[in-house]
Amino acid sequence: MPIVGARGLTVVRLLRMGMSGLKGRDLLSLVDLSADEMHELLEIAAQMKAGKLTPVCQVKGHVPVLGLLFYKASTRTRVSFSVAIYQLGGQVLDLNVSSIQVSRGEPIADTARVLDRYLDILAIRTFEQQDLETFAEYAEIPIVNALTDLEHPCQILADLQTVQEKFGSLSDLTLTYLGDGNNVAHSLMLGCALTGINVRIATPPEYQPSEAIVQKARAIAAGKSEIILTSDPIAAAKGAQVLYTDVWASMGQEDLADSRVPIFQPYQVNESLLAQADRDAIVLHCLPAHRGEEITEGVMEGAQSRLWDQAENRMHAQKALLASLLGGI
Ligand code: CP
Ligand code: NVA
Repeated sequence: MPIVGARGLTVVRLLRMGMSGLKGRDLLSLVDLSADEMHELLEIAAQMKAGKLTPVCQVKGHVPVLGLLFYKASTRTRVSFSVAIYQLGGQVLDLNVSSIQVSRGEPIADTARVLDRYLDILAIRTFEQQDLETFAEYAEIPIVNALTDLEHPCQILADLQTVQEKFGSLSDLTLTYLGDGNNVAHSLMLGCALTGINVRIATPPEYQPSEAIVQKARAIAAGKSEIILTSDPIAAAKGAQVLYTDVWASMGQEDLADSRVPIFQPYQVNESLLAQADRDAIVLHCLPAHRGEEITEGVMEGAQSRLWDQAENRMHAQKALLASLLGGI
């Protein structure tokens, strides 16, 4: 797919950096990216945010159409993907799960093969990672994980962009995640492993992340950075440059929310926990947040919070991702 109207000099610079793009690929998990590809995406996202790279994409002579198929609620992911594709010169088609035939039992394999014939790229938010993989198996267009119970890779692209903006690079940093060993924790471990960030995951003992993801992250890190699991929130926060938290009960677990509050209370990101971190530490949260549960109002609104930049970066990072998957970079 040609880039129409990209700023020539910047593209030449990107090409000199050996950027190859991710044309036609899926992003189902962060393990689908190499370390170089992750750094490339972050570089493209930074250039896009700075207004130095403004590609307008076309696919086979028409504007690209991004489908959104979301089985769960979303504000940031839905809107940032939509705006990103508009800014690339494309269009978005927000597929309403309840009004298409999957809600009446049409198999994913059939739905995927049909949507493949209409759309140029499809972002899916669903429960089972396996369902996402089935879409990818039957559709040739790029399939993007817009959150599953297992992973949230697009979130972590924006998170790493936010960390890089603050510290200038991703070297010699420690990120501490506190709370539930969930989808966000999984993708964070993989993203930090890819970029050489040390990561500490502090959870109640019975809410640790998936052992399989921990193994994958450690294999990717391969001694370049540490991945530590602990149930001690204070030791985990000590000296860290980034404190990160997420809800204690994810979408689909709402009925467990009340019973989890006392279990997760020691992992709350509050003023005294933040005092344990590096003096220059920043606080991240993928949002939506429950003030007074996993994070206090004061920390959320405080000087070390980067939550709103982080949310903004969803758009820049996903614009970079879309342009790359569509072959525009
Ligand atoms: N962080 C995130 O994915 O937000 P949404 O659920 O609003 O998309
Ligand atoms: N872990 C949360 C993330 C929301 C963006 C969930 O899955 O609901």
